[in-house]
Amino acid sequence: MTAALPPMVSGKLPIVGHALEMLRDRESLFKRGYQEHGDVFAMQLGPQPIAVVTGGEHNRHLYMETDKSLNMQDGYAFLKASFGEVFFVASKDTYYNQRPVLQELFKRERMVGYIQAMNAEVQEWLDSLGQAGEVDITAAMRQLTQFVVGRAMIGPDYNKELGPGFWEQYEGIAAGLDFVLPPNLPLPKFRRRDRARAHITKTLNGLIQKRRENPDQYDDLITTLLSTPLKDGSRLDNEDIVTIFMGLLFAGHETTAGQAAWLIALLLRHPDYLARVRQEISERVTYGQPIDAALLSKLDHIYMAIDETTRMQPSADIQVRTVDTPMKVGNYEVPAGWRMMVSAATSHNLPGVFTNPERFDPLRFSPERGEGKDPFAIVGFGGGIHKCTGMNFAKNEMAVITALLFQQFDLELLSKEIHVVSGNGANHPSEVRVRYKRKPLSALTDVKTIQQAVEAGCPHMRQKVAEEQLSSQ
Ligand code: HEM
Repeated sequence: MTAALPPMVSGKLPIVGHALEMLRDRESLFKRGYQEHGDVFAMQLGPQPIAVVTGGEHNRHLYMETDKSLNMQDGYAFLKASFGEVFFVASKDTYYNQRPVLQELFKRERMVGYIQAMNAEVQEWLDSLGQAGEVDITAAMRQLTQFVVGRAMIGPDYNKELGPGFWEQYEGIAAGLDFVLPPNLPLPKFRRRDRARAHITKTLNGLIQKRRENPDQYDDLITTLLSTPLKDGSRLDNEDIVTIFMGLLFAGHETTAGQAAWLIALLLRHPDYLARVRQEISERVTYGQPIDAALLSKLDHIYMAIDETTRMQPSADIQVRTVDTPMKVGNYEVPAGWRMMVSAATSHNLPGVFTNPERFDPLRFSPERGEGKDPFAIVGFGGGIHKCTGMNFAKNEMAVITALLFQQFDLELLSKEIHVVSGNGANHPSEVRVRYKRKPLSALTDVKTIQQAVEAGCPHMRQKVAEEQLSSQ
């Protein structure tokens, strides 16, 4: 006897099914599905039935069956029109052939350079803020994370190399993402996306050419892409490199931006925990000295806050697969042609797994309490073979932002209501408006160090002293 299909969540409308609710408020839709039917239920997006799963056991099943009974590329086909056939959007054979390149890019040794890029860009952003003012952290994180990934990939001259207008064009690509409409409809946003793709492709081809002609003068991501052999021994061609580069730019900032903005907002909303973070910073992070990997490993409270933010406000709250071979999930059978989805919104809020899941409580991840030990209980970075390769990059970047921002500024959260904005690429918070005031240099370091740095010609300290004198006049 064949098992039953997963039960349908209420609220299905004729023709569109749950598509409108999915676009408007998918968190409520998933919570309702879980309340009505438990950890496996169905929903319908237009003609497409989808099985939604919740909890460590089912999440594990989905990740472990990926590239076996489940395929990844069909569900993410909407990314193809913007970025081309890259990583998991490409066929399984292409993905496994390109995988050595992905592993090379995220080798532990490379993180050293990436962390330096993070320090430099975060400090430049903080220096640009002046002595006091107001800023929308959501918008600021979007630009900052773009600049970090740009610098990490191409080096300090990235903006010169990418040329004027690059990031505006890049926004055109992101704005053209749409998982509902066919990607070639003659709509203005799709035309803008195609113009942006053409512009960016031309720019990147120019960069690749320069490196092909003068390989000794460069040591960056593009040279790595040019020189790393694929599994079959061949090398990537220009088209593949452009595609991978664009994919990495997107993966490397879109999700991190939202997560970093939520992290700052949640810390400001929880002064007790923020006090622990501030204490950790003042004990461990020395003003004017870059943060390296060894120091990052000592910022436990910051990393627990990052994990708690991923749990409560995951940027990548849904992940999709397509069923190639019928699959048994719990007591149900999911037929071929259906989609399957993990729901972070419900998985991350299971009361049996997390104590008072609605509370921001980073200490739940402390060794004494050790909640969420199951590697599939929190799925904000995915799981299995396709688990986010950039997870450490993203977490380190958020840690550097948090450490330097709260080290150098006093901040007050002005936005009273902050809600989730569901994008086609990733979630992010609505405006996170903060008022900030730079801490006096004397609160950051002692007078002797300031004097020594100025006498030694440190441009950063000289500028800070001059700015402080100016603002006190
Ligand atoms: C907070 C920030 C981030 C979040 C929440 C996030 C989330 C994810 C998730 C959920 C997946 C798996 C998707 C799935 O299974 O359906 C993924 C894959 C991936 N991410 Fe991230 N990501 C983040 C940052 C980054 C960064 C900074 C980079 C690169 C610099 C990156 C590069 C990648 C790549 C290359 C993959 C594909 C891995 C594969 O298919 O083997 N991500 N990410």
